[in-house]
Amino acid sequence: MTTISRTAVTSAPIHEVLAERWSPRSFDSSVEVPSEKITAALEAARWSASASNTQPWRFLVARRGTAEHATIVENLMGFNQAWAVSAHVLIVNLAAVTAEDGTPLRWAQYDLGQAVANLTVQAHHDGLHVHQMGGIEVDGLRTAFSIDPALEPMSVTALGVLGTPEALASDVLREREVAPRSRRPLDELVLLSA
Ligand SMILES: Cc1cc2nc3c(=O)[nH]c(=O)nc-3n(C[C@H](O)[C@H](O)[C@H](O)COP(=O)(O)O)c2cc1C
Repeated sequence: MTTISRTAVTSAPIHEVLAERWSPRSFDSSVEVPSEKITAALEAARWSASASNTQPWRFLVARRGTAEHATIVENLMGFNQAWAVSAHVLIVNLAAVTAEDGTPLRWAQYDLGQAVANLTVQAHHDGLHVHQMGGIEVDGLRTAFSIDPALEPMSVTALGVLGTPEALASDVLREREVAPRSRRPLDELVLLSA
């Protein structure tokens, strides 16, 4: 198994899974993700908080080697296609933006993001890696999967087992895979501090 440390540098200790989580582009296409780990990740998403418990998240889940996986790859932007094709699982993340009676669900995208964050943490806890992508062809996905107009495709999650940087197809991707992770300083983000 490949291990690369890209641990977050923090001003106070944070949970190990949060510190160790990062978004790789190299996935080992030869290793399948066990069904129970996919289910655990989706359960973590399911038990996320949401506005008025509306649970406005829906998922299209596809394993590598299926027509659905290939269709999702076709509907990634070119830069993402190059690496995400190796991920054993691809998940289209959909926000249910209107209720059954047509009322807009104002927090749908926010809630979906929280659900995907939960999924990510569970997956890392289970020894997997996750990379979210906003670079997707929304209209192409809508057509390919006959997606209900009340659902908005927001992103695709690549889920799988970490591969080696050397397996990536270009120097640019290989360099990004091992570059230091960075964040804005905390005092730039916290506009009023307790
Ligand atoms: C909503 C969202 C969209 C993203 N879109 C892409 C994308 O299209 N392609 C890509 O390579 N990474 C994408 N990323 C990954 C981010 O670039 C990555 O999370 C960020 O650089 C921080 O790196 P880390 O996750 O390793 O900490 C996306 C992440 C999120 C949350």
